[in-house]
Amino acid sequence: ADTKVYRASTTAPVNIAVVKYWGKRDAKLNLPTNSSLSVTLSQDDLRTLTTAACSATFDGDSLTLNGELSDISGARTQACFRELRARRAAVEAANPALPKLSTLPLKIVSENNFPTAAGLASSAAGFAALVRAIANLYELPESPADLSLIARQGSGSACRSLFGGYVAWRMGSQDDGLDSKAELVAEASHWPQMRALILVVNAAKKDVPSTSGMQQTVATSGLFQQRINQVVPANMTLMEEAVRDKDFAKFAEVTMRDSNSFHACCADTYPPIFYMNDASRAAIRAVEAINAQAGKTVAAYTYDAGPNSVIYFLEEDAATVVGAFHEVLGAVGGWKDGAATLKSSAKIPEQTA
Ligand code: PMV
Repeated sequence: ADTKVYRASTTAPVNIAVVKYWGKRDAKLNLPTNSSLSVTLSQDDLRTLTTAACSATFDGDSLTLNGELSDISGARTQACFRELRARRAAVEAANPALPKLSTLPLKIVSENNFPTAAGLASSAAGFAALVRAIANLYELPESPADLSLIARQGSGSACRSLFGGYVAWRMGSQDDGLDSKAELVAEASHWPQMRALILVVNAAKKDVPSTSGMQQTVATSGLFQQRINQVVPANMTLMEEAVRDKDFAKFAEVTMRDSNSFHACCADTYPPIFYMNDASRAAIRAVEAINAQAGKTVAAYTYDAGPNSVIYFLEEDAATVVGAFHEVLGAVGGWKDGAATLKSSAKIPEQTA
């Protein structure tokens, strides 16, 4: 019998949306109520490293995340395993000489180079790395866009981490989800001056998980209808123009407005959901003060489903923006280490595909 251990490794980057995905039209397939757009951060700063192995000698499928065995019985992880095995089985059927890897137990080992406890959206990099590692192990011919269809079923935002640079997730219109995938808007090299500063809040409280937060928003927020029908479609168009024209003021305004709109919908649910806290709001005020002081827009804030800030700025304004945050937030409580924590001054990477 074949006792060989087959193995492949890969990394996947974190992405932070500037037009947010919030709301599912199909929870099983992770089909969104709206398109979204993100910037992929540098893998030097934030990334997941994943090794996928398969062997007849393994006991069964397993996933170890940062040294701890993780539950893989959930429908999301199972969907990724099933989809990837089906594609490998198709390759094997066409090439009978190939080893039957699709039938072997999988052992996945994954490490983040940033603290998972920091509350940063790690599921995006996690599922993107898992899908690409298994796809590499299986030597699948699928393109990054094709793999994004699988990663999407693990975690919606993960589909955008299959590409570097500026990435759109097109919501699609089909019920089978085959047109709901990621697409490269622009390579990182198109606008290489973009930087991201991540401010980590000392959060004691656990946030509402994105899936239940979305469900509640879709079910109870009236404002949400306006967001998905008007606000997001307009923001997608404006954001693609801003990236195309390398117009930072426009990029920043759309980023901040879209974050505000998403959090307004959360506050509009019943009961309301609050992801931002006093420290988050202080950082918003700090961005406004920095921009007013500079006499132009040099910084943009955005918040996901938690209180941490991501601040986008251009390299030429690094001293102004990063310096000001240390000054302003040093006096404000609630930030990790008593002041703004520089998690990443991320250089946006080349396309990772
Ligand atoms: O990928 P999920 O299901 O964890 O949802 C992420 C949602 C946000 O991070 C808040 C927005 C986004 O587009 O990434």
